[in-house]
Amino acid sequence: YSHIYSSANFPLEDNGRTYHVSTKPGEVANRVVTVGDHYRAFQIAEFFDNVTKEDLDVQDPGPYEIKKPHLFMYMSKRKFLTITGTYQGVPVSVVAICMGLPMMDFFIRETRHVVKGPMAIIRFGSCGTIKDIETGSIAVATGAFMVSRNYNYFINKNEESPYLISDACSGDKELQELLYKNLKKECKNENIKIIKGLNGSADSFYSSQARHDNNFIDCNDQLFDDIRKKHPNCITLEMETFGLFHLAKCSSSTYHKKEEEEKPASKKVKLSNNNEIKAAATTMIFANRVNNTFISTEKVPILQDKMIKSILDSLIQINLGDEKNLQPVEGS
Ligand code: URA
Repeated sequence: YSHIYSSANFPLEDNGRTYHVSTKPGEVANRVVTVGDHYRAFQIAEFFDNVTKEDLDVQDPGPYEIKKPHLFMYMSKRKFLTITGTYQGVPVSVVAICMGLPMMDFFIRETRHVVKGPMAIIRFGSCGTIKDIETGSIAVATGAFMVSRNYNYFINKNEESPYLISDACSGDKELQELLYKNLKKECKNENIKIIKGLNGSADSFYSSQARHDNNFIDCNDQLFDDIRKKHPNCITLEMETFGLFHLAKCSSSTYHKKEEEEKPASKKVKLSNNNEIKAAATTMIFANRVNNTFISTEKVPILQDKMIKSILDSLIQINLGDEKNLQPVEGS
């Protein structure tokens, strides 16, 4: 794996691949679903046009690259798996990122770097609930906030609070509503609850999600109360959605678009390079933190199957403007 990178600021291989996700222009679509689990990514890719189970039967743990006329797959050496194809004729990608905010940051920045034009990104993951909602239910995030360990508290002990809870950041309302409507439609004959609410993204599955672990001093007995006090509408906790919503908001063209909207008509300039990111998130509730129950794992693929169609439908239904301005992808 010897490569020469063109810059230390944003390292790229000489063929244009980014450093961690390892994709280049033409390999990622403007419409992306991001998941943690590689198995979930393959299950989504089964819904792509003309894809068969055999296409996805990869034994190699990677890194690997598979190119077929209807399908592109790349497993990076850091285990980011990108699969690109079409769904009902529209280019779509699924990217599996494993877990946590740092992986979300790699994924968004590096895919944004190789995709031209506006993007729609839906996160599809799992979560715990701090309300008494049955495991196996589905949550749609109306916004997300961050719960982080306040490291100084554990260093100095003169800090007020062991955890920092940020204000909430919303996703894209239109994509969120499409997703909610499609999930409702897809699950209408099933006994599956679909709930909208705020999501807290934590920097640990354990301490900052108020799990108890006697091997460490975590000072998290008050944490659920503090979260509920600051965000009474919080229903779920996981580890990624805030990263997505926050970076979508900080995407430079979203900032500029907002500035432009606020200007009087005479002063408006046409934005030539619209790199807006529309983001939404839906999660399967795996853990009920009120009654301390966990989903039985054989239920998960069945629940996923119900959700995948709604997620892909929402991704292709969202308007990203003139298709001519989008990234052409190989094989579509
Ligand atoms: N993922 C999380 O981050 N937390 C849970 O409780 C379940 C899934």
